[in-house]
Amino acid sequence: MIKAKKQFAIPALLFMAVGALLVASCAGLDTRTLLAPAEIDVPSLYQLAPHDMPIGVAVPAGKARNSLLKSPERQVLVNQHFSQITAENIMKPSYLHPAANRFFFADADALVDYAASHGKTVHGHTLVWHYGLPAWIVEFKGDAVAWSGLMASHITGIVAHFADEDVVVSWDVLNEVIADVDEDRDGTNDLRRSVWLDNIGTGYLAAAYRAAHAADPDAELYYNDYHIAGTPAKLNAVLDMVGEFQSDPDPVPIHGIAFQMHVRLDWPDIKQIKASFARAAATGLKIKISELDMSVNTDRRGRRGSMKALSVAVAVQQQKRIEQIISAYLDEIPEAQRGGISVWGIADADSWQRTESPDEWPLLFDDEFKPKPALQGLANGLARRR
Ligand code: XIL
Repeated sequence: MIKAKKQFAIPALLFMAVGALLVASCAGLDTRTLLAPAEIDVPSLYQLAPHDMPIGVAVPAGKARNSLLKSPERQVLVNQHFSQITAENIMKPSYLHPAANRFFFADADALVDYAASHGKTVHGHTLVWHYGLPAWIVEFKGDAVAWSGLMASHITGIVAHFADEDVVVSWDVLNEVIADVDEDRDGTNDLRRSVWLDNIGTGYLAAAYRAAHAADPDAELYYNDYHIAGTPAKLNAVLDMVGEFQSDPDPVPIHGIAFQMHVRLDWPDIKQIKASFARAAATGLKIKISELDMSVNTDRRGRRGSMKALSVAVAVQQQKRIEQIISAYLDEIPEAQRGGISVWGIADADSWQRTESPDEWPLLFDDEFKPKPALQGLANGLARRR
């Protein structure tokens, strides 16, 4: 995707002597051209993490053309920089539970084995979601009791399968159950419509955690959602739900809140991010950054920009902002509550953002698996180097 531009004009060469960064941004050069890997000095991200907090990455696996298990380039980076793995797709309901009476674990087991043999843990993603469901669940006909039974056996079958070894250490039990709208305008977003809500009612929320906890009492159970660092009304809904779980006479076994953090260069504001982390930390639960990536060519309203290559100037802005976000996390989340930080993909070319737009560069490594300034940003944030 990124094309190195080799045709330097003579004036540009002169400028380079004065200030390489400035010239690079004017000429629209990519990160490989001027920010040589030598300037990026990160031997290993996870070794910089304070108190061994997990540093994770979402990986393609299974039948994906870019599967980690078939890709030596990706393996090198994963082994070097990350202590935890999340399956980008293959541990979602449609993959693990393709038919009512059949689970499919072969691909996930291969990934979990890979993690175990490389000394890494796995964050399980995800058990209950409105999306990524197999057709048989979407089409299931039954009353609330039958639906509750379906959900419980779905969760139990999956969590119990991975419970024995200490590799899958945590799960996103509920994923994205809060809507992006606040129809009654009470300052708190609504619950998202889904087959679970429609067929079981609000009781499905707590029941999901109870089923997961019964199947693996050692696993840390998270709630995972997007845009909660920048949308107070959405975070309000998450915190209300968590508050209800905690104040239940028989407290619901939830251990953490995961901020996906699909952020943009200009959104959310860093003050807003800090405030959101602080509010979530006040629950006493663990807080995880679960799916960090940063679009650089999409604005706060979701409008696409006109960038066709990642300029050094923008790559450096991305670096600085990633560093700020990591610092905010470390500042606001007490050590005992840090569930760790995971990025949503290895190299830019793999990013799910590329399926929406070819002109995005959201991750830590470029299309050729070379480190980007973003990697240095994450490292500096972790090491608290300024
Ligand atoms: C995305 C994957 O990255 C894509 O490959 C897939 O097509 C759709 O799902 N929030 C989540 C993740 O919880 O599961 C999503 O992953 C990204 C948004």
